[in-house]
Amino acid sequence: KSIAVIVVAAGQGERASVNGDAVPKQYRPIGGKPVVARTVAAFLDVEAVSHVLPVIHADHDGNFAALDLADARLLPPVSGGASRQASVLEGLKALEPLQPDYVLIHDAARPFVPRALIEAVIAAIADNDGALPTLPVTDTIKRSPDGHMVAGTEDRRQLHAAQTPQGFSFERIFSAHRRAAQIERDFTDDAEIAEWAQLRVVMVPGDRDNIKITHPDDFNRAERLLQGDSR
Ligand code: C5P
Repeated sequence: KSIAVIVVAAGQGERASVNGDAVPKQYRPIGGKPVVARTVAAFLDVEAVSHVLPVIHADHDGNFAALDLADARLLPPVSGGASRQASVLEGLKALEPLQPDYVLIHDAARPFVPRALIEAVIAAIADNDGALPTLPVTDTIKRSPDGHMVAGTEDRRQLHAAQTPQGFSFERIFSAHRRAAQIERDFTDDAEIAEWAQLRVVMVPGDRDNIKITHPDDFNRAERLLQGDSR
């Protein structure tokens, strides 16, 4: 099977910036190595991966080039869109000529994705249309449409927090994404698009270390993770 990976890094990276930081969060170093460089390396480390395609913001060409990443399996970056969903679609279009069997779609903002997790997702695609890592929800989740008054409590035993990489049959997710782009609905991950297209999506156990760098604080957490101290 040929397996392509889309690493979406085309966000503005604003939420994690401190005082309008000049460097977008994807390009800030953790333990001396920029986030995107770590994420790309994590996938190149997996032998089964045939291609890695970065999707970047049009304004970040210089930031990406400065990473100086070179690998026979690393494709030149393509520009993303206004939403994560649009950025993924740009990635899928760029992969079309390669016709991979599977595609893994991963947030650049999750640089600590373990090799075993990537391999578990790949293994799970075979008997389904798609697979994603999830973690059980440990907090009790309240529902509140107005963000003020509590309207109810979810049954957390049925709830699972989604991570990436999310892997799919290339053909099926490409077709689902193209159709999803034609309707007015914001899908928050690719598995949601697969569900909407009635594909079979299975969960595999996620990993607590596979954190998403979203807020400035997450950089401190990430540095501690690298030091083997996950407080
Ligand atoms: O904003 P959020 O944390 O959900 O973004 C998840 C991932 O999607 C990030 O790696 C971000 O760079 C990427 N993204 C993108 N294009 C956008 C918005 C987000 O590639 N327009």
